[in-house]
Amino acid sequence: MIYFDNSATTRIDKDVLQTFEKVSQTINGNPSSLHQLGDYADGLLQQSRKQIADLLHVLPEEIYFTSGGTEGDNWAIKGTAIEKRQFGRHIITTSVEHPAVKESVGQLKMLGFDVTILPVDHNGRVAVSDLKEALRSDTILVSIMAVNNEVGSIQPIGEIEEVLKNYPRVHFHVDAVQAIGKIPFLLGTESRIDLATFSAHKFHGPKGMGFMYIKKGKKIAPLLNGGGQESGRRSGTENVAGAAAMAKALRLVLEKTEEKQMKQKEIKTYLTEKLEGYKKVSIFSQKEGAPHILCFALKGIRGEVMVHAFEKKEIYISTTSACSSRNGTTSSTLVAMNVPEKIATSAVRISLTDTNKLEEAKIFMEEFDHLYQQFKDIK
Ligand SMILES: Cc1ncc(COP(=O)(O)O)c(C=O)c1O
Repeated sequence: MIYFDNSATTRIDKDVLQTFEKVSQTINGNPSSLHQLGDYADGLLQQSRKQIADLLHVLPEEIYFTSGGTEGDNWAIKGTAIEKRQFGRHIITTSVEHPAVKESVGQLKMLGFDVTILPVDHNGRVAVSDLKEALRSDTILVSIMAVNNEVGSIQPIGEIEEVLKNYPRVHFHVDAVQAIGKIPFLLGTESRIDLATFSAHKFHGPKGMGFMYIKKGKKIAPLLNGGGQESGRRSGTENVAGAAAMAKALRLVLEKTEEKQMKQKEIKTYLTEKLEGYKKVSIFSQKEGAPHILCFALKGIRGEVMVHAFEKKEIYISTTSACSSRNGTTSSTLVAMNVPEKIATSAVRISLTDTNKLEEAKIFMEEFDHLYQQFKDIK
């Protein structure tokens, strides 16, 4: 079996799973309970928070546990809108965000917020000049992802931070779900990023677990009200085993990152160069984009046909994103990149992780060649 769908989700690491099991079996208390078992659970929760904070060079009180990327994106956007609505109602985002951002912003639009959606170029990147033009005195939030999940384009976050240094009252949210462990990503006092979203299952952690970075002093309203957990900002009994396992997964993914990224880049480059040799193939991912995502199309063959043809060979890829696969919609990222609809419907995505091997890419290309010979005359 060759698993090339790691941007949809990764397999939980076996040591991470062991941590999850061990904590689940041994730490049974509720972190909010007053007795000793509660103290043990709370101790481990705070230790996990500190581990994550240390790995990202931020403060433990800047890390908030969530259920994953979707919750984090919803919280950053709607939490900012609720918190800052007296100061302004203008939000800026891009045309290539994950639906968790896009639809959150859409919901706010229905409630009367004013939304500017920045376009992207044919590589899927926003222009910093467009952002500069869009900023207004009533802008409260800029939400721009670090790495696109469909084509792997990397947004110019550093340059955007420079621009936003002149707008200290605007919250800057970055969806970092596809960035962590894949490209250098810096938070902390030097950074202009106020809010960042992370999801554990994208880096071999448990599913349904994530965290948000909220810079010290920055305020967003809670979306989940209740028992006041997570310093009153995100209620709900904490998933202690999930937090401990996620901290371990983050440590593992950030260990020897450069080496791991190089390995994925080598596989991506190999596949890109091989695919470039086929006349009917269009490639949408840049070589200098994220090292783990390669999106391409075999013209005339629908993406789902390719996915199922590879599945028969026990090779797992996807049609651009897990979300667009199931609902059968065309990739909104490719549409935003001005890829004609007909070609966009043929797009598929290979997404890698550090356990993938070049040998697997070679097998993939052999199977691709067979399929190409079968399909190449289809118009
Ligand atoms: C860029 C991006 N943001 C957010 C999410 C949502 O994360 P989760 O699956 O943890 O809800 C994903 C998942 O595919 C993603 O790729």
